Amino acid sequence: MNSPSDYQPASDRYDRMPYKYCGKSGLQLPLISLGLWHNFGSVDDLKIATDIIKYAFDHGITHFDLANNYGPVPGSAEINFGKILKENFQGYRDEMIISSKAGHEMWAGPYGGNSSRKNLMASIDQSLRRTGLGYFDIFYSHRYDSVTPVEETVQTLIDIVKQGKALYIGISKYPPQQARLAYEIMAKAGVPCLISQYRYNMFERAIEKENLSLAAEYGSGFIAFSPLAQGILTDKYLNGIPEHSRAARPHGFLQPSQITPEKIETVRLLNEIACQRGQTLAQMALAWTLRDQRITSAIIGASSVKQLKDNLQALNHLAFTTKELNDIDRILS
Ligand SMILES: NC(=O)c1ccc[n+]([C@@H]2O[C@H](COP(=O)([O-])OP(=O)(O)OC[C@H]3O[C@@H](n4cnc5c(N)ncnc54)[C@H](OP(=O)(O)O)[C@@H]3O)[C@@H](O)[C@H]2O)c1
Repeated sequence: MNSPSDYQPASDRYDRMPYKYCGKSGLQLPLISLGLWHNFGSVDDLKIATDIIKYAFDHGITHFDLANNYGPVPGSAEINFGKILKENFQGYRDEMIISSKAGHEMWAGPYGGNSSRKNLMASIDQSLRRTGLGYFDIFYSHRYDSVTPVEETVQTLIDIVKQGKALYIGISKYPPQQARLAYEIMAKAGVPCLISQYRYNMFERAIEKENLSLAAEYGSGFIAFSPLAQGILTDKYLNGIPEHSRAARPHGFLQPSQITPEKIETVRLLNEIACQRGQTLAQMALAWTLRDQRITSAIIGASSVKQLKDNLQALNHLAFTTKELNDIDRILS
């Protein structure tokens, strides 16, 4: 049993972060949220992970995003987050929005990795046990698995709320047709979709076609993940792949093959605009993701406190001129 640390959160933490209502709900989220997909697993340094969470909370990041499979090993990010909470944040649960998800491969056999009722019900119980939490604030269907009827998945999410295991529900990466069906079923059941979670950054803009407006139509908030394209939209890969970066780590999701000379040339041009704005590229990429008022929050990752500190400074300069936006579009096209 770990004893509580003497950590005291910064008293001015709520002055350091803007908050925004999540769709048509009464829940506010910080403009920048923190995700635990990488850097919080059993292969990572728990002290660094703890320092990142403390720094985040001290700067008004109240929302922490998990999933059953985050690690590696899968499940270990939830275990580590649970340890960090227990040792440092006793008494602060009501100041946090903690989300988890199920639907990707997690355990062996036919029930360990799709969006069936069997998987979701078992998964939320496992995630609650790993984190030591009594409930999640938000529980997501992590993906549409292309087989399980949306009706089955969504009814399970609704039942999870009715069982008191989650306060709100959301969907992630659903194609527009399935998203619309999910929104409709949830609305009819009186458990509306709080939030929709999709990849969105300067390189990956597919949601601009339909998903973003669809979520708004149904009153769902929208949270953008990988706003830095896993680190490509920073200056870190401008001169090759640094040791210990996500692209260099054997268990990183970012593959070296994704860092092409063409992409780096684009990053170089974007970096010039960021410099003219007096920002780092990471800060400009975050501001760009947040420029659409329908985006409630951006979920970033960080492997150090230094990165988080750098990224949070995006909040000091969020606005773009039309010329800057046009220049960015021209570079991206
Ligand atoms: N729903 C889904 O299916 C889904 C999928 C993916 C992610 N997500 C969520 O979104 C969260 C964020 O995703 P992400 O980690 O890909 O986000 P990201 O913010 O695009 O990338 C984060 C990574 O970029 C690098 N980085 C960050 N700030 C930097 C800086 N200032 N300078 C240089 N490098 C910097 C770090 O990698 P290094 O290791 O290279 O330092 C960091 O781990 C996840 O944790 C998860 O909660 C959800």
